[in-house]
Amino acid sequence: MKIIKKFEKLIKHSFFKILKILNIYDKEYEIFKREFREEKQFRIIYEKCKAYTMTSIFRMYSLYKSIEYIVKNKIPGDIVEYGVWRGGSMMVCALSLLYFKDINRKIYLYDTYEGHVESTIKDVSYRCKDAIELVKPS
Ligand SMILES: C[S@@+](CC[C@H](N)C(=O)[O-])C[C@H]1O[C@@H](n2cnc3c(N)ncnc32)[C@H](O)[C@@H]1O
Repeated sequence: MKIIKKFEKLIKHSFFKILKILNIYDKEYEIFKREFREEKQFRIIYEKCKAYTMTSIFRMYSLYKSIEYIVKNKIPGDIVEYGVWRGGSMMVCALSLLYFKDINRKIYLYDTYEGHVESTIKDVSYRCKDAIELVKPS
């Protein structure tokens, strides 16, 4: 029963993912629109970046709001991301900085461009859990 439920969930998720890729229906965007109707500028940024990130619209929105917060509150510093994949999240940051007229920060993008490196015994979580155990498939 548990396996059937998991399979159903996977099929449903894949179906919506295909609709999104084909630009037919974006389920996450529909939910987002209901909750954050006023954010027109974010929509423009989202449309430009969505093809270059595997992250959700909600996480992209939180990046946009974080940039707005640091600009409006004049918090100094550069922007860094480790593990950029195709760069979509940093595109959100860069376009948000431009929109909020903050052009003096540097942005740094890092990636192995070869996927994840193997964990070693030196890699532990902040709770001292062994990374080798954490990344093992369940
Ligand atoms: C889940 S993806 C990141 C998604 C991305 N932030 C986005 O907006 O779509 C993880 C990325 O981390 C990279 N990566 C894995 N281990 C890394 C490491 N030790 N240093 C830098 N990048 C790493 C992978 O190559 C991959 O591109």
